[in-house]
Amino acid sequence: MPDILYSAAPLVAPSILSADFAHLADALVELESAGADWIHVDVMDGHFVPNLTLGPPVIECLRNASNLPFDVHLMIERPELSIADYRAAGADSITVHTEACTHLNRVIHQIKETGARAGVSLNPATPISALEEVLDIVDLILVMSVNPGFGGQSFIESSLDKIARIKQMIGTRPIFIEVDGGISPKNAAQVRQAGAQVLVSGSAVFHAKTGFKPVIDALRQPCG
Ligand code: DX5
Ligand code: ZN
Repeated sequence: MPDILYSAAPLVAPSILSADFAHLADALVELESAGADWIHVDVMDGHFVPNLTLGPPVIECLRNASNLPFDVHLMIERPELSIADYRAAGADSITVHTEACTHLNRVIHQIKETGARAGVSLNPATPISALEEVLDIVDLILVMSVNPGFGGQSFIESSLDKIARIKQMIGTRPIFIEVDGGISPKNAAQVRQAGAQVLVSGSAVFHAKTGFKPVIDALRQPCG
């Protein structure tokens, strides 16, 4: 599994939810040559969120189209039933929602036992206290800055304070803080200044008139 290095420089994880689903493999090749660090794969089951996207069979087909780490975001009920399938399909990190896990500690261990990085995601209204008891076992925290289910939504401004409070809570633990939803070059510096190391961006990347690379570079611009 490609090692995901903890790095001070921001990582950019374009979300393929905004891609043309008829040409996903081509999009991966283009994203890789445009300098993306991770591929953010949004899995939605139509129950946990009101949208339905893709699952392990599609991820398995895409695995051969890219060497980039697959950062799989499970917006699904009962994720514990399919962790092994997502890992087998090629997921490098697997993120579950606290709101979908009755036994979050057990699911995190289940993910780590597959060799994947274990991520935990919080919806905008979920308090950071939901993270308290898993900080010593989780590898990644995905902060939702929109209500999950769709791309192209507006960034929820209160996320900035939430990111900063999570950063403080983490202390020196080697945990990635990833932020997801409404991220563009307009707010990337603020989001990074608040404490994010990984930026997910879907519509800002895929709807850019300039092609992928200028947007990905702009998302990485040093804070002002
Ligand atoms: C929303 C997904 C996000 C979304 C980001 O439920 O988890 O990853 O695709 O798309 P933008 O950047 O357009 O908000
Ligand atoms: Zn996502």
